[in-house]
Amino acid sequence: MNPEIYAERRGRLIKACPDGVAVFFSTPESIRNGDVHNPYKPDSDIWYLSGMPEPETVLVVRPDAPHATLFVRSRDRARETWTGRRMGPEGAVSLLGVDQAFPIADLSKELAKLVEGYRRIYTALGRNSEADRAVISLIVSTRTMGRRAGIWPTDICDVSPHLGEIRLHKTAREVDCMRKSASITSSAHLAAMRSVDPGMNEGHVQAVVEYVFRASGSERVGYPSIVGAGRNATILHYVENNAPILDGDLVLVDAGCEVEGYTADITRTFPANGKWSAEQRALYDIVLDAQLRAIRLCKAGVPFIDIHDEAVRALVEGLIKIGFITETRDAAIAAGSYTRWYMHRTSHWLGLDVHDVGRYMDDRDSRKLAPGQVLTVEPGLYVAEDDDSVEPRWRGIGIRIEDDVLVTEGEPEVLTHGVPKDPDVISQEWLRRLELPPLGGAVPQITRT
Ligand code: GLY
Ligand code: MN
Ligand code: MN
Repeated sequence: MNPEIYAERRGRLIKACPDGVAVFFSTPESIRNGDVHNPYKPDSDIWYLSGMPEPETVLVVRPDAPHATLFVRSRDRARETWTGRRMGPEGAVSLLGVDQAFPIADLSKELAKLVEGYRRIYTALGRNSEADRAVISLIVSTRTMGRRAGIWPTDICDVSPHLGEIRLHKTAREVDCMRKSASITSSAHLAAMRSVDPGMNEGHVQAVVEYVFRASGSERVGYPSIVGAGRNATILHYVENNAPILDGDLVLVDAGCEVEGYTADITRTFPANGKWSAEQRALYDIVLDAQLRAIRLCKAGVPFIDIHDEAVRALVEGLIKIGFITETRDAAIAAGSYTRWYMHRTSHWLGLDVHDVGRYMDDRDSRKLAPGQVLTVEPGLYVAEDDDSVEPRWRGIGIRIEDDVLVTEGEPEVLTHGVPKDPDVISQEWLRRLELPPLGGAVPQITRT
């Protein structure tokens, strides 16, 4: 990406935090087991402000020159043979356009020089304890320098709320990335609808979705994919994805891919055999009505909380119609009795992180939506398999419908419009069978204990 874009973003951060030095420590790598690491997701703040994707990076942003300094892993032929190429300090300057770069081994020595003249350090507090300790050590180690003439930092301030507000408002270029990840993710969900069959395993559907992600140019998933069949769809963050899909099951797929770090977040729920039962269809229609009503409200000036409140009103009206709730709508909402079947919020911000940064509240009230924000709208209904408050025919059905919506100057733009959610269209899509690679290994066992 053009280095000027990062410089412009850093300029916005300096404007928001003009009285101190901002220091960002990259997310640590995490061990999977033994000497094997989990795949590294570039640190979102450092990626946003510099384009640096590597671990073991520290970015320092100052109001005075040098404005941007990166500390990065040194080039190392032996290490690079094992674990991949590194930019090194020279590469960081020439490719990313920061003012200067040092080996990460020089951090403590050089950082002290960069904070001289400032009373305040801005950093992302509480993300990782090693970074928190490094900032405290910096203050302690520079304290003795206060005996000399000069100014040294004494205050630590959380940078996250400031940078969160900047990252929340997406530029046209960022929205382009989000359109791409939304479009690839839509194709992947469509492929899942067209290829699912009773007898498959949930893992097979996950493989179809993630195959389309990677084959279409996405670098990685934005979060662990959820593929839950039957009663597994009632577990909100089900990630085992290893159970057989039975005839008559609904399959809930919540998956999204990243493009240049920006993730999509789509959920679709569809029948494994292409046909809805009466109970599945009744619940689905309620969730769809709630989602469409909530999306209509995603306009500039509307309080964020109104999206959720509208979805809840629609869900409760539907639950009254099918006899789950016997109170009036407003009494059910006041008492929270609907939370037995709808226990999560309807929306979150979306961007480089799936649950993206940015405040939801002003000092007292829910903040109002503004153009350039992207949020999800994802109502659902989940009837537990042991829910004895309803007849057995309703039990074990989980439904969520989730789209990603851009707030504009006018009507909401549904970035994920490419994947159907009309239940009749979903049934038609099921008939357009996709030729899938053959299943390898053992045929999954079609039983459920
Ligand atoms: N995929 C996580 C969520 O929908 O919030
Ligand atoms: Mn979501
Ligand atoms: Mn989701």
